[in-house]
Amino acid sequence: MMMMMNNGPSPILSEAGPVMIIGSTGFIGRFVTEACIDSGRLTYLLVRSRGLTSPPASKSSVLNSFKEKGANIIHGSINDQDFMVKVLREYGIEVVISAVGGESTNDQLTLVEAIRAAGTVKRFLPSEFGHDIDRADPVEPGLRMYNEKRQVRRAIEKGGIPYTYICCNSIAAWPYHDNTHPSEVLPPLDQLNIYGDGSVKAYFVAGSDIGKFTIKAMDDVRTLNKTLHFQPPNNLLNMNDLASLWEKKIGRSIPRVTITEDDLLDAAGEMRIPASVVAALTHDIFIKGCQINYLMDKATDIEACSLYPETPFTSIDECFNGFVAKIVENQKLVNKQQAAGNNNGIIIPNRKQEALAIATCS
Ligand SMILES: NC(=O)c1ccc[n+]([C@@H]2O[C@H](COP(=O)([O-])OP(=O)(O)OC[C@H]3O[C@@H](n4cnc5c(N)ncnc54)[C@H](OP(=O)(O)O)[C@@H]3O)[C@@H](O)[C@H]2O)c1
Repeated sequence: MMMMMNNGPSPILSEAGPVMIIGSTGFIGRFVTEACIDSGRLTYLLVRSRGLTSPPASKSSVLNSFKEKGANIIHGSINDQDFMVKVLREYGIEVVISAVGGESTNDQLTLVEAIRAAGTVKRFLPSEFGHDIDRADPVEPGLRMYNEKRQVRRAIEKGGIPYTYICCNSIAAWPYHDNTHPSEVLPPLDQLNIYGDGSVKAYFVAGSDIGKFTIKAMDDVRTLNKTLHFQPPNNLLNMNDLASLWEKKIGRSIPRVTITEDDLLDAAGEMRIPASVVAALTHDIFIKGCQINYLMDKATDIEACSLYPETPFTSIDECFNGFVAKIVENQKLVNKQQAAGNNNGIIIPNRKQEALAIATCS
């Protein structure tokens, strides 16, 4: 059964067609949803029903804030093809953005069929938001996830669905090799893990920019049937650079510990999902250089900075300022909330008490 709630102020009508976002309560989906609503586009959020179980408080409050800003909630799942065809047609959805997590990658095959059958969608952005999966070749279990994402790409292309693949590279944060959502964890204060010799570079993109540039690109004619790479030159850093930047921000040095290639391969080989997937991708990024070891030489490649030169990317420096500000301003509050089992979305990394002393924050 289809349930649609039009909550909050009247929806902002736009000449451009309605957008549906799947996965708006997720880590990447929140950034994309925020940017879509801010852009003024009529936005529908497909949210999984949970039967009698209510969503966790953090997800409810995220959804409520989206509703207050004018987003429309549709309850349902992409696994139900008939339902999806009906919804896409009924609301005349022209752009579909999927930000489902790794475990739901395969479910997008049903969504692709629904998009094909509905015939309303002018652009589909599947759940990518990482590397160019047709180029990168991580070890297992990263490879399994990439193979699933590749299958989705092939189904889109075979179905003749207009698409854009968003390859935003790494989210701007300390790249923990065992955490899928690193920007929710503050950078370390007691020990900096350096992968390999720390010299392999990667692109770090603020979550808000992942959202902003995805929305800019979603129906840009220049990104039709293209792979959009986010490669802001100022945000290309290696682990040693990142460690030095963080030390500069907090005004003191922190012991550095080498995590070798074998350590990462061992962690990947443990096959703990999702931690081993992250270890496999960390190996691909910081040992094999998967973000920088190819040329932009396919006709389908397009780069975000050259496409939108008027819109600067947030620097990693600014992102780290934000982390320091959170530590300094919220330290007492966070400690109190941690004791009460509520951390307001900010997770302080494990560290010794004396590591909390911060000399400066700029
Ligand atoms: N570049 C980076 O640094 C980076 C970091 C993390 C992830 N990623 C990529 O970003 C993408 C999203 O990952 P994520 O970690 O943000 O995911 P996530 O936090 O696990 O969120 C997934 C979202 O999809 C929804 N969902 C899952 N299955 C669904 C279904 N069948 N029907 C409707 N909604 C469904 C979930 O809803 P519920 O609330 O109902 O569970 C949730 O809102 C992935 O492709 C991932 O590889 C990139």
